[in-house]
Amino acid sequence: MDKFLIKGIQKIKGTITASGAKNAGLPIMAATILASGKHIIKNVPDLIDIRTMAKLLRIIGAQVNFENNTLKIITNGCDNHSAPYDLVKTMRASIYVLGPLLARKGEAKVSFPGGCALGARPIDLHLKAFEKLGAKFEVKHGYICGKTEKLIGANIFFETKSVGATANVLMAAVTAQGKTLLQNAACEPEITSLAKVLNSMGANITGLGTEILEIQGVEKLYPMKTTLIPDRIETGSLLIAAAITRGSITVENCNPDHLGIVLEKFENAGFQITTTKDSISLSSKGDKSSLEITTNPYPGFPTDLQPQFAALLSTISGKSSIYETIFPDRFMYTTELQRLGADIKLSGNEIIIRGGNKLSGAPLMASDIRAAAALVLAALVSSGETEVSRIYHLDRGYENFENKLTNLGANIKRVQ
Ligand code: UD1
Repeated sequence: MDKFLIKGIQKIKGTITASGAKNAGLPIMAATILASGKHIIKNVPDLIDIRTMAKLLRIIGAQVNFENNTLKIITNGCDNHSAPYDLVKTMRASIYVLGPLLARKGEAKVSFPGGCALGARPIDLHLKAFEKLGAKFEVKHGYICGKTEKLIGANIFFETKSVGATANVLMAAVTAQGKTLLQNAACEPEITSLAKVLNSMGANITGLGTEILEIQGVEKLYPMKTTLIPDRIETGSLLIAAAITRGSITVENCNPDHLGIVLEKFENAGFQITTTKDSISLSSKGDKSSLEITTNPYPGFPTDLQPQFAALLSTISGKSSIYETIFPDRFMYTTELQRLGADIKLSGNEIIIRGGNKLSGAPLMASDIRAAAALVLAALVSSGETEVSRIYHLDRGYENFENKLTNLGANIKRVQ
């Protein structure tokens, strides 16, 4: 297992390009199951999670070629309807094949995803919505087995906004008979990008970017040719790398519109932000202020930047707070930040950070993708050496993260 040795304290300075969005890529890859033929997806980040989804598609019967950030997927032979435990246990997003398989084969068998480092992560919203479309489920030997004669459009109201359930059900509904209405749908940019791709394949979805999606079922879809949107969470993490070291950065090839509230929080904390249509620059002159943050579904503050902001706020004097509303248990990383000397107190769904302590390097262990990023970012401003183990979590979601940071002035070595 690889780990990082990170020497602090180095200033992050320079210009870097954002990668394509993993969380846009995963459902779009699953959507290739919906149409036989050759699909082309560009700007795909080379990540373990993308390779896991590629493996899953191969098991289902697709031919997948992944080179130079381009995926070529031929789906004519997708005859298997089963997603095995070995893959699903390493990546919950494997559940995304459930909707497309029900739509294409009328049958799907997907290993039931368990809990994870973010706490309990049920899939009841996915299953209830599929049932409304006419699928029947049973759990056998740890697998969810779904069957349907024909999916029929329905009115579906999601009790909680869920990115995964919205994407999965959207993919099932595009070829369902008649009209489907998804209410309280997630509005994340990754959902809108999926809906656009589905429309480019021949689907009829309206209400894109809103919480009500209307889908008029079509008989047949055609292969896609698409380019993934930039990764807003990677972009935010790179901005934090500059902010936490009081450096400066320009992230190119990103979409500032996807980071509205995040950029506002940087400004509230005293960082200077300038944007163009596809770039964001951050600089760090002047005094810094503590912040109060509450995570929320898009366009609210993303839970996927919560741990990285906690690292940043540990370096800003005064009392900050972060209230987590999406994954209440997403605070495992705080005990690791405490090992560096951060003053963070956990109380229910909230952490209180009394920032400004000098941080000093220590051995740390990553518990999930974003926690791993937070630890790496905190290490950049910790004196001496920080060892971050279980870095495979980072490799699931950040393309070339250590190379990107090294090119910007960090001192990071990957060792076995
Ligand atoms: C996706 C993202 C993840 C991000 C999260 C929230 C991908 C691959 N992952 O995860 O990085 O942190 O959105 O922005 O895109 N819930 C239920 N029942 C369900 C489904 C969800 O109760 O059937 C709850 C969850 O426990 C959570 C909330 O709904 O409290 C939102 O979760 P959801 O948006 O579904 O997250 P994911 O799609 O798993």
